Amino acid sequence: MQEFFASASKNTESALCDELRELGFKSVRLNRGGIPFRGDWSEGWRACLQSRIAQRIMVLVGRGTAQSAEDLYAEIQKVEWGLQLTPKKTLSVQAVTVGSQLNHSGFVALRVKDAIVDQIRDQWGDRPSIDKDDADVKVFVYLANDKLRIYLDLSGQPLHLRGYRAESGEAPLRENLAAAILRMSGWDRQSPLIDPMCGSGTIAIEAAQWAQESAPGLFRQSFGFQRWAGFDADSEAQLRALKGELRSAAKGQRPSVVARDVDGEVLQIAKGNARKAGVRLSFKEQSVFDLQADGPVMTLVSNPPYGKRLATAPDFLDRMGAVFRKLHGWKIALLAGSPAIEAAMKVKPAKKIPIPNGDLDCDLLIYEID
Ligand SMILES: C[S@@+](CC[C@H](N)C(=O)[O-])C[C@H]1O[C@@H](n2cnc3c(N)ncnc32)[C@H](O)[C@@H]1O
Repeated sequence: MQEFFASASKNTESALCDELRELGFKSVRLNRGGIPFRGDWSEGWRACLQSRIAQRIMVLVGRGTAQSAEDLYAEIQKVEWGLQLTPKKTLSVQAVTVGSQLNHSGFVALRVKDAIVDQIRDQWGDRPSIDKDDADVKVFVYLANDKLRIYLDLSGQPLHLRGYRAESGEAPLRENLAAAILRMSGWDRQSPLIDPMCGSGTIAIEAAQWAQESAPGLFRQSFGFQRWAGFDADSEAQLRALKGELRSAAKGQRPSVVARDVDGEVLQIAKGNARKAGVRLSFKEQSVFDLQADGPVMTLVSNPPYGKRLATAPDFLDRMGAVFRKLHGWKIALLAGSPAIEAAMKVKPAKKIPIPNGDLDCDLLIYEID
């Protein structure tokens, strides 16, 4: 049994917790920053393949107490690094320290790196080199109140990099954030959904993939764990079998998912991305102002343009708010990159959740229009 940790973007932890429970992971616990769960190795691989909301999946390889550089070195040396790391592999170490005697994360990372490298050199007579950007083995260390937790990152590149979005429009939304917002919007995955300002199509693509239960990781070339020394031919066969199972478990459920944007060029990009992601969407080049209130009732999930990233006409948001207020019976979830969006809606959201989108402070605003 391994203990895993699925890291989450800020304030998406409960959405991730629901997702992992629904996917059948065991010992899932709601926690700040991410969700711990347990299982054998293949459960970690399955999480990489199936989670839409996690940023990374990590496995706990050691824990202890470290109040000094010597304690830290000794704790790190207790881990059997040679299981996954050899001198031929590259290594990176990241550390976070909170409320601890060792309060400099750069120093902690350096000491951890020394302890790992020394152990490998003692074992093999040579050491792995460091690659800060794309290491084979990525180590994460959390030191909170002198309590140390040592993780290996199974994901490699963060999981939002699904592999279907080769091209994006301006200000694209991270795929795992789009997935979190969809779950938080309360969409039932059966009724129609629309993103009337879809850009590169992230929200609509994630919605359609989620509804048909197609595992997002199947579109990735590879994950970090496939580059570890312990990932042998048997592991390869096991992973292939797991992928096959997930492929055949995908459901044919295809609710109507509508993707619109006023910009025809960006819509072409969205079409290409949807094709690569294996989903069929209903595309139309149309302005949000032409959204009809007398059509079928839908869930609307969108990330409207906002001053900092995309210029809009001065009355854009007021006009958009006026259109949205007429959508009686609709559920509307907006990832708002500016307080002006909430002001323009002129009605109080049923929920308002701060969610950063990269370096931008955003709010997820959820409305039930009467
Ligand atoms: C913040 S971006 C959306 C990004 C998208 N979520 C993605 O992941 O690529 C906002 C989008 O609104 C579109 N837009 C601007 N004015 C519009 C209008 N009047 N009607 C529809 N879409 C509009 C822009 O073309 C842009 O693609």
